[in-house]
Amino acid sequence: MILKNALLGTMAVLTVGVLAAGDARAASYDVHIERQDWSFAGPFGTFDPAQLQRGYKVYREVCASCHGMDLVAFRNLSDPGGPGFTEDEVKAIAAEYEIEDGPDEFGDMFMRPGRPSDSHPAPFANEQAARASNNNAYPVDFSLIAKARHISSGFPGFLIDIFTQYQEAGPDYIYSLLTGYRDPPEGVEVGDGQYYNISFIAGNALSMAPPLDDGFVEYTDGTPETLQQYSRDVSAFLMWAAEPKLMERKQTGLVVMIFLVAFAFLMYYSKRKLWADVDH
Ligand code: HEC
Repeated sequence: MILKNALLGTMAVLTVGVLAAGDARAASYDVHIERQDWSFAGPFGTFDPAQLQRGYKVYREVCASCHGMDLVAFRNLSDPGGPGFTEDEVKAIAAEYEIEDGPDEFGDMFMRPGRPSDSHPAPFANEQAARASNNNAYPVDFSLIAKARHISSGFPGFLIDIFTQYQEAGPDYIYSLLTGYRDPPEGVEVGDGQYYNISFIAGNALSMAPPLDDGFVEYTDGTPETLQQYSRDVSAFLMWAAEPKLMERKQTGLVVMIFLVAFAFLMYYSKRKLWADVDH
């Protein structure tokens, strides 16, 4: 009992602390988050391979010129639970990239076509080069972005981890950011090379020009070619990129929960049986 109270007390203090911190941050400006229905939400949710393939197309044709994806290897694109490319498709995709390799026998670096084991290369030689082309802002690597921004719905990230096991807040944020560009309201000035956005987490202006608009990317499966659809697809793809084992984790979590419930019943009835003949 004492232990339980202590635990509950600690949880309450932590919760209030985190909520208060969240409020303090939100006080200076609003971060507008538009929640979406994701196929991978909920304990039984799964990624939709067709959506991931479309999102990957958006990434490659638009985002990849500024954002790398260092931790995602081409061969991951054929892993179960992901976009479901065949191994031949993966080989063909990898071969379209030029990868720096070396040094060769003369000590020189050289370029060669990508292989399935390579990761998605960063588009700039280094951070300085990236900043120099981007108004001194850094286009983050995409490998973990969907998780790095999962606190942004205002719901404390660690509570999301503990109680729900799934983190749609990251993709909700990316979707909102991509569709959140507006003309600045009267009286609001944004800096040179900055764009007003109602969803950007660190202030209402950022140095990324609106990367998408209706008709920018061609879809071959009849899916509408709209800003909203592109944004949803690329956000789902980035969720997969950050959490490729999400499906497995959910399944494990579910099995563990079922086991715990069954175990609790077993314990309860054993206890009753064992203590049945003892006078209270
Ligand atoms: C022309 C370069 C460029 C392109 C193309 C581009 N971005 Fe960016 N992106 C940036 C820069 C620069 C930043 C950093 C902005 C800042 O911090 O002010 C950024 C930041 C971001 C962030 C992080 C926002 C945050 O909370 O810190 C996300 C998410 C993002 N981009 C998504 C995308 C997606 C998705 C695409 C493709 C549809 C894309 N970007 C295309 C340059 C680009």
